[in-house]
Formats: sequence, C-alpha cells, structure tokens
Amino acid sequence: MMKEFPKDFLWGGAVAANQFEGAWNIDGKGISQDDVVPYVDLKKATDIPLFDSRAMIEKGLTDTAEIYPKRFGIDFYHTYQEDIKLFRELGMNSFRTSIAWTRIFPTGEEETPNEAGLAFYDALFDECLKNGLEPIVTLSHYEMPLNLILHHGGWSNRKTIDAFVKFSETVLRRYQDKVKYWIIFNQINSGLTDAYLSLGLIKDEHPNIEQSKFQSLHHQLVANAKVVKLGKEINPSMQMGSMNYDMTAYPATPKPEDVLGTIENDDAQLYLSDVMIFGEYSKTMQRYFAEHDLALEITDEDREVLQKNTIDFLAISYYLTTVRSSEMPNILDQIAWNMNETSRNPYLETSEWGWQIDPVGLRIALRKLNLRYRNFPILIAENGIGYRDQLENGKIQDDYRIDYLRNHLNQLREAINDGVQVIGYQPWSPIDIISAGTSEMEKRYGFIYVDQDNHGVGSKKTDQKRQALIGIKK
Ligand code: BG6
Repeated sequence: MMKEFPKDFLWGGAVAANQFEGAWNIDGKGISQDDVVPYVDLKKATDIPLFDSRAMIEKGLTDTAEIYPKRFGIDFYHTYQEDIKLFRELGMNSFRTSIAWTRIFPTGEEETPNEAGLAFYDALFDECLKNGLEPIVTLSHYEMPLNLILHHGGWSNRKTIDAFVKFSETVLRRYQDKVKYWIIFNQINSGLTDAYLSLGLIKDEHPNIEQSKFQSLHHQLVANAKVVKLGKEINPSMQMGSMNYDMTAYPATPKPEDVLGTIENDDAQLYLSDVMIFGEYSKTMQRYFAEHDLALEITDEDREVLQKNTIDFLAISYYLTTVRSSEMPNILDQIAWNMNETSRNPYLETSEWGWQIDPVGLRIALRKLNLRYRNFPILIAENGIGYRDQLENGKIQDDYRIDYLRNHLNQLREAINDGVQVIGYQPWSPIDIISAGTSEMEKRYGFIYVDQDNHGVGSKKTDQKRQALIGIKK
C-alpha cells in the first residue's frame, strides 16, 4: 500500500515532550502546567478535574500524595537512543515530537537559554537524522512555563507573545540545519475548550472568560505569524506549519437548522486556520465578535503581521467525527469540552473512551479542507486509537489497531487520489505514552508496548519495549 502514496511522503509517528520525556526536574528544566496535573482514577472519579482555580494548581507544587504521570512520562529523556532505533525498525522515515519550552527557558523570563536543554535536543535530532528520521517539531504542545500562568496570566497577556517568540527564535536558530518541518502550535483550536492546557488561563481569575479566551487565541495567532516570519528569515527552506484538531460534523437530521449547525461547527473549528492561511479574520468571526460584545485588542501591527506571514502547511489531528443538532451550543460559546454533548452516530463504533471510529470521515474531512483551502498542503499530524492493550506472553494481539490504521490509510489514499495534497502521516503514537486528556498510561496508542501502568509502576525497560514490539508485519 505504501507504494501507492506520493514519493517523499512523511511516514512517521507523533508524540509530545510533556507526555513522554519525563525528567521533569532534570538538567535545569522548569515546571510546566502539565507537571501539576495528577492522575485521576476514572473508575472512581466522576469526571476529569478542570484546573480552574489557583489552589488546584498550587496543590500540585507541594503535594506528595498523588501521582503526576506527565512528570515521568516513559522516561524517553534517558532512553531516546534505544527508542529511536525501534522507530527505525518500524519503518518510519520521520518523527514528530515537541520541544519543551521549560527545558529552554525554565520560567519563560530568563535572559539566556538553558544550555543543557538545548544540548538534549541537539543530541535527539542528531540521533533522529542518524537513523533516517526527518524530525517534525512542534513548538507549543500543551506546555508552557507554569510561572507565566501563575504570575502573568498565561496567553491572555500580550507579553507572552514576546516570551514565546524568544523561545522559538532560540530553537529555530539552533536547529536550523537539523529541522526543516515546524508545527508552531499543536491543535491551536483546542484553546476554544481547554483554557488551562492550551491557553494557560486560570479560569476563576477571569471575570469575562470568553473575552480572555478569544484575546489569548488572538495572541497565539500573532505569535504564530511572528514565528513564521522568523523561520523564513533564519532559513528560507524551513516549512512553517501550524495545527488544528479536526472534528468534522454530521447533521443529526436533514432538518435545515441541523445542517446549518454543522456548517457553523466547521467555521468555528477552522476560524484560527482561516486566519493562519488567509491572513485575516473571516466575516463570520467578525460578526460573532460583534454580536457577543467581544472587543478584542487587535492592533494595526497585528493585522499586518497576520496578513504577511501565513503558514506553509496545515497539520491536523484526526481521531473522530461528531454529530450536531440545532439544540447543541456552538463550540465558540463553550469553555470546556463535554463529550456527552455530542450525540452518538449510530453508524459508527465507539471506543471505550467514547471516541467514534470513522475512517471515511477522514476522507470527508480532507475533501472539505481541500475545498476551503484550495489544494493547500496538509500533514496528518495525529491519528490513532486508544485501547486497553493486554500483554500476553510478551505480545499483544492488536488486530483492532491494525484494522484501524489500514482502514484510515485506505481512506487517506482515496483522498489523495481525489486530489488532496497530503504530505505525510504521523500516527499517534509509535510508542505508548501518557494520555493528554486523562493522564492514564493504560489508554495506549503505541505500536511499541511500554511496561508501565497508570501508577508509573513497571520496568519501563527498553528490552521489555523491544520484546513487545507489536503490530508490525515485516
Ligand atoms: C490530541 C493531542 O488531541 O490527542 C495529544 O494533541 C493527545 O496530545 C491525543 O495525546 C490523544 O488524546 P489522549 O487524551 O487520548 O491522549
């Protein structure tokens, strides 16, 4: 099947620093918002806690009772050489990961970068290149210095743009000869419903949280454009992209209002990529801001920078589709993600975590993006299935995952034959890592099993990882 894809297609796998590096307090790394998120046993708790208050966040700084899985990840920081060899064995020619801002500028306010952090990524990218893996690097993947959240209002503060641009410039310059593909923001549109992880907002401290949310997203858009500009100045051959999650909507019924609701859902989810690709806010969004009394601070300089520095490719994650009815609130009006508001599509299977499996939806999503963005290059930066894999005799019989991938790849190939310009496929994730949403280890996506449970217990050893290499037919 791989032969039927374009030459130079980026076949890889995607992960993020905060979910797999571990070494949270090693070699000068600062604390990020992920390091204070505890593991919650979802069999006992009713819901994933939201980090809406300062007290909840500060608890994580001194607490010794709970487990904080994103602090230890799968300890990739210390095992990257062995793990990268396994990635090569998987047949990957590329590898998507992120740089932890807090390894480079631990509080976001230092004058000079932390050399030990920079040296780690030098060694990592060298190792990737040595093993034939083209690095695809995310600059912001749910990770920023906690100091900027606790003392400066996260992304609601315009000064965060400067701090992020400084961090980005440091790493763009440092790795300009090693990294060609950059994804500036992971799933920038998840800021619509995830104030803490995406935007660094402590919700209870924002009397008008809607205003703060859209202002923060505007700051991210300006930062995005400034980093595109820098990338092109530093090395014109760099490919500067940014990312959305894609959750294409189907109407719950043929009722015209439900169909309109799906269009509104798409417009809402894509408003940030519209700005990053067209260089300006759509009329639909301008109307939304006006009708909701949202007076964003958008300067003339902002408009100019957005206009002149559009991205080279759009990265998307694709896991599931959704169903919309006219009774459901527009995603722009929400500030927290609520899976239960999505009605189930009776034609699709659902994972244990409520994510509906929809390979054809990938083709639909790509066709829609192609219409909207006129043959714009797209990178599938994430796609995969979380599953409670069972290890038996050192192996996992993961036919469900093989089927999932095969079915999605078949639809992806169809979309490419339909004319969509897809430059690569980076499934989430080549190796088991901590879940972003639930902090579980046992929501596994990996092709490589890691011997570690939700409590961080397990050998984590590479030979164990190797023994359990799964899902690969050579
Ligand atoms: C994407 C994120 O939304 O989904 C990843 O970019 C995340 O960070 C992935 O891990 C899967 O979600 P989860 O919650 O199952 O880890």
